[in-house]
Amino acid sequence: MSFLELAHSRKSCRCFSTKPVPQELVQQIVEAGMIAPTGMNLQPFYFYVLNDLKRNQELFGQIEEPLKTKVPGIVNAPLNEMSQHSTYDAPCSIFCCLTNAQSNTKEFDLGIAVDHMMMAAESLGLKTLPACLPVVAAKEHCEKAIGMEDGQSLFIVLGIGYEHETVKGQAKEKKKNLVKFL
Ligand SMILES: Cc1cc2nc3c(=O)[nH]c(=O)nc-3n(C[C@H](O)[C@H](O)[C@H](O)COP(=O)(O)O)c2cc1C
Repeated sequence: MSFLELAHSRKSCRCFSTKPVPQELVQQIVEAGMIAPTGMNLQPFYFYVLNDLKRNQELFGQIEEPLKTKVPGIVNAPLNEMSQHSTYDAPCSIFCCLTNAQSNTKEFDLGIAVDHMMMAAESLGLKTLPACLPVVAAKEHCEKAIGMEDGQSLFIVLGIGYEHETVKGQAKEKKKNLVKFL
């Protein structure tokens, strides 16, 4: 498959199956993140991997209320009849943190690294959901739950898993007028 085909096949997954993600695939995904380019090669990020469905259910179950109250209109349908517990029901989550490295390009660097991980996951037959709302709603709770080290700050959670077979998410319509060839 060409890279463009792979990129077209990626879409955010909001209903994961309970099927576990093999640890060796998670290793490949985080490797793809860690080798991403960064400003001045500072790699101003750190990843906490929780590859355990039950522990993810527990954590995201605990933040269900703040998610609903602090983020009104959260994307929540049609998954919950089918999903195991929570809006964020991936069996594997990567908590992506920024470090206190002296860098002007931290968020940009982390965005590239997360994209590397999403595309690596896609190439391995997995689906992903980049999610900032758990951080908006319950940053401190999540940071405590993952035992985040001092000097770091949780920025985004990347959910990874196999798509639930009965719910196939639709590819989002994308704007096409975002480029001018000069
Ligand atoms: C930085 C970032 C944060 C996001 N946060 C959330 C989120 O918290 N919850 C959610 O359901 N989707 C989240 N998304 C997914 C977007 O809604 C999704 O990428 C967008 O609608 C386009 O759909 P697609 O990913 O299927 O192409 C996020 C995406 C990005 C890039």
